[in-house]
Amino acid sequence: MTFERHRDIAESVAFAERCEECWKSGSAFPWAVTEKFSEKLTGVLELRLSPPKADFGYILGEPFWGHGFASEAASVVVAWAIAQPAIFRVWATCHPSNAASAAVLRKAGLSYEATLANWESRPQLGESAGPSDCYALTKPTH
Ligand SMILES: CC(C)(COP(=O)(O)OP(=O)(O)OC[C@H]1O[C@@H](n2cnc3c(N)ncnc32)[C@H](O)[C@@H]1OP(=O)(O)O)[C@@H](O)C(=O)NCCC(=O)NCCS
Repeated sequence: MTFERHRDIAESVAFAERCEECWKSGSAFPWAVTEKFSEKLTGVLELRLSPPKADFGYILGEPFWGHGFASEAASVVVAWAIAQPAIFRVWATCHPSNAASAAVLRKAGLSYEATLANWESRPQLGESAGPSDCYALTKPTH
């Protein structure tokens, strides 16, 4: 999930408004990932349905890394998505060196498929067209 760091509150408000709009139009389904007991916001996970496939991305605030939150959130959303009758493929990408993200995808049931060349622009890493590893979960069509 490409996600630029917000520089001021206006950018965060615009992001929240975009999330509301996505839910209304059905173009994407962004969730706030919160800590169960404190309800503290830890990050965001977004699912996009495009039958016969669906893709998703996620990002967590650094203080919340390493607690299993991303794996828990991704697993629930992937299980829901692949159970939809019109969805036969759930996929996501991550940077080839992002071992934590690859672990999240594997734990959610996806398998490594391929490394996609020139897939994503990551200005923060100095990559104008960097590679991504593609992971997917598929189900039979009959
Ligand atoms: C990637 C990210 C979402 C992982 O979130 P998280 O909540 O820390 O992930 P989890 O706690 O569920 O950990 C997932 C697995 O990764 C493993 N892991 C964590 N850091 C790791 C590392 N540096 N190297 C290898 N494995 C690592 C954990 O051990 C865990 O596996 P385990 O449960 O078998 O021990 C989070 O680090 C993040 O938001 N990073 C910045 C943005 C980003 O990379 N987003 C994803 C873009 S594709």
